Amino acid sequence: MKLIFASSNKNKIKEIKALLPSHFEVLGLEDIGITEEIPEPGTTIKENSFLKAQYVLDFLKKKNENTAVFADDSGLEVLALNNAPGVYSARYAGTPKSDEANNKKLMEELKLVTDRKARFVTVITLILNGETHYFEGEVKGTISYEKRGANGFGYDPLFIPQGYRSTFAELSAETKNTISHRALAVKKLIEFLIGN
Ligand code: IMP
Repeated sequence: MKLIFASSNKNKIKEIKALLPSHFEVLGLEDIGITEEIPEPGTTIKENSFLKAQYVLDFLKKKNENTAVFADDSGLEVLALNNAPGVYSARYAGTPKSDEANNKKLMEELKLVTDRKARFVTVITLILNGETHYFEGEVKGTISYEKRGANGFGYDPLFIPQGYRSTFAELSAETKNTISHRALAVKKLIEFLIGN
């Protein structure tokens, strides 16, 4: 089954491909000729997830194609920061987007904060045969006092998932792929796709 993943983030496409059974052919935005950045004007993670999927669907409709499309939108919510950066996770420290600047800002904001509780959340929107379906995943954890590890991307060097001592960036891709917010949302997506 062919699926378009409304993302141009190579790390995420790689992660999703690793999680999906091989009979699913997953194409990213570059594979279908979308090179521009999809606008994310929503005020919630769920809204942006839907808007990304809808954008790609509109693009495909102009070419008379009707492939299933899914999009994910994720964010890091830090309890002591009233759930910031949340929907603004990618551009927390402003534009151009920079993981390094975002992590630096987060460490700065939490410098005097001892409650380090946080969670990653993902909402996947699947638009299949004109119907919209949502799949959510979350992973609870805490924010480290310093950056650790070199794997992954984004806030991975600062996020310690519950039940672990390592940050996401210190864990192997295999381990992250079994416990991450995206993995849990993808698991729900897969269960739905297989059941249909
Ligand atoms: P997106 O909406 O899924 O692209 O993610 C928004 C922001 O959250 C980006 O800055 C990402 O770096 C960050 N993010 C999303 N997923 C992860 C993850 O698994 N680890 C670390 N950061 C992430």
